[in-house]
Amino acid sequence: MKKIAYIKDQIESFNSKIYVPGDKSLSIRWILISSQAVGTSTAYNLLKSEDVLSALNAIKKLGINYKINNKNCKIYGKGINGFNFKNNTTINAGNSGTLARLIFGLLVKSKNQIILKGDQSLSKRDFSRVIKPLRMFGQNIKSKNQKLPIKIKGTNYPRPINYNERKGSAQVKSSILLAAMQTPGETKIKSVPSRDHTEKLFKYLNLPINILKKKNLDLISYKGIKNYKSFNYVIPGDISSSSFFIVLTLLSKNSKILIKNINVNKSRTGIIDILKIMKAKITLKNKKNYNGELIADIFVKSSNKLKPINCPLKMNSRSIDEFLLIFLACAKANGVSKFNNIGELRNKETDRLKFANNFLNKIGIKTKVTKDSLKIYGNPNINLSKTYEIKNFDKDHRACMLSFIAALTLGGKWIIHDINSINTSFPNFISLLKSLGAKVSW
Ligand code: S3P
Repeated sequence: MKKIAYIKDQIESFNSKIYVPGDKSLSIRWILISSQAVGTSTAYNLLKSEDVLSALNAIKKLGINYKINNKNCKIYGKGINGFNFKNNTTINAGNSGTLARLIFGLLVKSKNQIILKGDQSLSKRDFSRVIKPLRMFGQNIKSKNQKLPIKIKGTNYPRPINYNERKGSAQVKSSILLAAMQTPGETKIKSVPSRDHTEKLFKYLNLPINILKKKNLDLISYKGIKNYKSFNYVIPGDISSSSFFIVLTLLSKNSKILIKNINVNKSRTGIIDILKIMKAKITLKNKKNYNGELIADIFVKSSNKLKPINCPLKMNSRSIDEFLLIFLACAKANGVSKFNNIGELRNKETDRLKFANNFLNKIGIKTKVTKDSLKIYGNPNINLSKTYEIKNFDKDHRACMLSFIAALTLGGKWIIHDINSINTSFPNFISLLKSLGAKVSW
């Protein structure tokens, strides 16, 4: 049953230390990459959300066993392309675009046909972005209108490819890299920079990857097929989940928060840089390197003097999952904020540009939207008093959680539908909000 939450009070001031669950991008990558290792890999602090459980179920369907309990998760890898499954096996990626697009690459040599499907929201999303490069490798792909469900059969003789990745999509880049892992010869990708966890994991595993960073373009190459041993990994906290608490604190009165042990990989911290340009008080403490990833504690204080931003284009991929929260901060800034080249937001779990525009208008904020840009006319004195009902967001977990942050900081009475959607990425979101004093009922 779809649950509804009710919020009628703003959160009172808090001063707290919290932990958020493991990074979703890294959790899914750890599962897929461990499924190709030789032997038993163990992860600690793996995110236990629906998207991640879909990834575990997917490798299980492909003949790779796993065990999960409260302490850790173990995957019993059988080496590169060690999958074993019957013809016409179905994989259900649920709501996860990352899982569906990355596993596509892993199936480049699959001997039997796979039917890849997803939930209603994922079935509306574009797959041409991975179909195109994977067909170049020689994979056989049957799809109606380039969307799920898709039938996939691998090739015995994949060919290395040269590919220009222009969207700044880490999912596309990673899908190609996972196919390259099983392909003889050298695959080359010219990629607009995007999150680089796959590359960092490959480097940590000493795989034959090479990266040359040019201005606004990464030249990535992967050469040959190399088996690798199983590996253990402690998944750090998720910056995207932390961001809800960063903005909650910023927009609350007289509050402070310390969010412990977060992956602050530079390709993910656009939100911190943007909010700092807007004069938010955010500091990173205890920085350390963990297997190539940068980990830190994030300290945030409330701020009632936010400045607007003309968002630099190079921030777009670095904050792709945080724009809804950034737009909310801009709604409270003193002036007009501008975002350009953000059309990719229309291809997320829901059309986030449309959702954001409607949401801001609903709370009385003037906007101008085009197919790939948004202007927000901020109002530092917003003080809501009406009733706001949030629904029809295609099960988009981030749209749903954004509504909680607005409800707890801007006033008014809120009715938020389909709160089960939060389970795709952040199952303890509401209990963490409650631990800070938020009053939420359902
Ligand atoms: C992700 C990449 C991003 C992001 C998604 C997770 C990843 O998508 O929006 O939530 O883990 O690679 P795109 O690569 O399509 O931009």
